[in-house]
Amino acid sequence: MTLLVGLFDSGVGGLTVLRRVQACYPHSPCLYLGDTARVPYGTRSVDDIRAIAAEVVQWLRHQGVGVLVMACNTSNALALDVAVAEAGVPVVGLIDSVAAVIDSDRVGVLATPATAASGAYRRAIHASRPQAQVTEVGCPAFVPLIEAGRLEAPELRQAARTYLEPLLAAAVDTVVMGCTHYPLLRSLLQELLPPGTRLIDPAEAAVARLGPLLASLGDLPESEQQDRTLWAATAERTRLCVTGCPDSFASSAQSWLGRPATVEQVSLRTAVRPA
Ligand code: DGL
Repeated sequence: MTLLVGLFDSGVGGLTVLRRVQACYPHSPCLYLGDTARVPYGTRSVDDIRAIAAEVVQWLRHQGVGVLVMACNTSNALALDVAVAEAGVPVVGLIDSVAAVIDSDRVGVLATPATAASGAYRRAIHASRPQAQVTEVGCPAFVPLIEAGRLEAPELRQAARTYLEPLLAAAVDTVVMGCTHYPLLRSLLQELLPPGTRLIDPAEAAVARLGPLLASLGDLPESEQQDRTLWAATAERTRLCVTGCPDSFASSAQSWLGRPATVEQVSLRTAVRPA
């Protein structure tokens, strides 16, 4: 049995999670939904984020996913319970996965305004390290600039300097990229942070949890997952869907996944239950 791995995000950010899933489990078919008609999520109200998560996860369930990987921190922070209730299959979270492996007491978290305001990272880190100082910073300018492909924009660099100020003032030694778009800024962040600062992508810890979970659900054994010849087939095993324009997403996906991408536009309303 091979389970379909479902992932969703507001846009291209979740591709940073997808590419890790594909690299670690090339035998796994994946279904990725970028809800580009409603990006960004991170400046929306809590009610909106929860309603959107319910609709997206219902759609993924109707597509037959066998496991759901949260590829969006904002949904993870504010609607994990919604995702679990609607998915009907196991859900792998980013925030709890990374909190369990943090080994510092001076932690900075860069995240969307909604994630930062929720305090979800602080609570998750404090569950295992109550003494940790956790500085969470909301970064509203990042996602719109990344979605527009403006990674070299001077505004992006200036915004990064501003957002990093509280982390530098708190002398953090570990920075969590608490939005799946932010690994696309890794080199800029690394350049602006003091040498030796550890920059963490929560997807690494989440994807590490996926293998044992797939195995426990009766998916193919780990040995087969190591077969790199499967990599070539990975593209065919991945379905990329968006709620907005497929063309602009396809060009971003091609650059972030490193190969041509076919993108379908879908309507989520088919999955919403009648009132
Ligand atoms: N990439 C998502 C996250 O991890 C959503 C960003 C947004 O749409 O604001 O939070």
